[in-house]
Amino acid sequence: MNAFFKGLALGGLLIFTHSANAQNTLYRPIPPGFDFPAGYDFSSGKPPGPADFDNGEKRLLQFLQQNNFGELRRHGWEVFAGLTQQAPEGHANWESWFIAEQVFAGPTPAPLSDQPRSFKRSLEPPRKLGIGLGGPVALAPGQSFAFSVLFNQPARDHIWTERLFERATVVNLLSNLNQTNPPIEKRTIKDFPRDSIALKVSWRHIKRSGLTAIPVWDNDLPNPTAPVLPALPEITWKRCVAVDPTGAKPEGEVVLAQCGFEQRPSSVVHLNRFYNFQVDNQNVAVLKSVIGDEVNVGDYLVLVAFHYTTKEIPEWIWGTFWWHDKPTNGEFASDRSPKVTGVWKNYLMDVGYSRDVPAGGDGKANDIMNPYIEARFPNGVRSNCMTCHARAVFPRLPPEPNGPGQDICGALPVTRGSSDLPSSDPRLSTRVRLDFLWSVLLRPAETCN
Ligand code: HEC
Repeated sequence: MNAFFKGLALGGLLIFTHSANAQNTLYRPIPPGFDFPAGYDFSSGKPPGPADFDNGEKRLLQFLQQNNFGELRRHGWEVFAGLTQQAPEGHANWESWFIAEQVFAGPTPAPLSDQPRSFKRSLEPPRKLGIGLGGPVALAPGQSFAFSVLFNQPARDHIWTERLFERATVVNLLSNLNQTNPPIEKRTIKDFPRDSIALKVSWRHIKRSGLTAIPVWDNDLPNPTAPVLPALPEITWKRCVAVDPTGAKPEGEVVLAQCGFEQRPSSVVHLNRFYNFQVDNQNVAVLKSVIGDEVNVGDYLVLVAFHYTTKEIPEWIWGTFWWHDKPTNGEFASDRSPKVTGVWKNYLMDVGYSRDVPAGGDGKANDIMNPYIEARFPNGVRSNCMTCHARAVFPRLPPEPNGPGQDICGALPVTRGSSDLPSSDPRLSTRVRLDFLWSVLLRPAETCN
């Protein structure tokens, strides 16, 4: 088993029940009024149906055709606002969704959606560390991290009814396709329903007292015009904030903090600038196994990055959000809906509806990435969610001749633009596409072949 799959296998164990006041939770979908489906008039009082999602798709694709990126961004923010509204249980709506480990364990006898169930958080260890740095690096608090993958109910139900949690499903589909030999674009699993949503979020560790530095992304590129940018993991970033969980130091005070490889002047921010939870007796053991022994009861995990994808359009919409200390500045703050409230106002956003447009930072195909998740890959700063997720096929794409050693089942090297894997690509004529979801390749089995 390679290191990647060891991480994945370990992932199954790292579920813990939240022990604070939110013992139980109900499934909380995006509430009415958050533009999901796009353009739907909720004042009718009727719940939206499949035809309303079809209308939403038309509306969004029309905005795309008109290069109306402001409207497309506004939709991206509204969906985020719906996901992050506070549920009566105290956590954000999305935290009531179904964790990947449970979804890929297969159906449970009781319907999980309409009755209270114990609130489970899952954190998985990082498995892409060290890329571009010549091996794993020892990480300090603030740099060590864990992530979670969740699905909403329509996505979960699809995985269950289509039995995508078992490798046998795609193995059998592949052998049928090889017999019937349909056109390449038909070589795919059944599309997820239009109201499906998947999430991936990333957390950083903060000590319970003292100051913990969190690197902040300022789009500081060593050589912006280089054809391939280097891997830029957080340890290489030039600026940090110093998180003070006790609130003893005033926000904005400048202190020297260990930031990446150096001590740098860093502004103090308080914990309440991040969505966070506290390490307690129930979850400490699990967190030690994900992050390391430096995690102690009373410490915090803070959310720095949030990915969502919604099946509102055939190639899904790809929204991404990352923490910033000046979240009202710059292009990634633009078009933010006033419905984004509370702690969630501290996050910047980019959203992708296309592999090609709008042009990326270098004038070529669209790039859309989260610095806390993708910048650590070579050229990750110029990655595009949709292009990489389109490579989720079974069996995995063959390694590229000059690709990086660790290629995560064909996800790497980073590529961009619709020319990367056109539907006529001969590599697809012996494969099944997995409707853009890497989990469908990575979670049912320990190999991607
Ligand atoms: C270079 C490849 C790559 C890029 C670029 C990429 N992802 Fe992913 N993504 C993955 C892999 C691999 C997984 C599954 C492994 C894991 O859980 O980390 C994943 C998992 C996810 C998931 C959980 C559902 C699933 O597919 O399993 C979501 C949601 C997601 N990514 C959203 C995004 C968004 C939004 C972006 C762009 C801002 C993005 N991704 C960019 C490779 C990529």
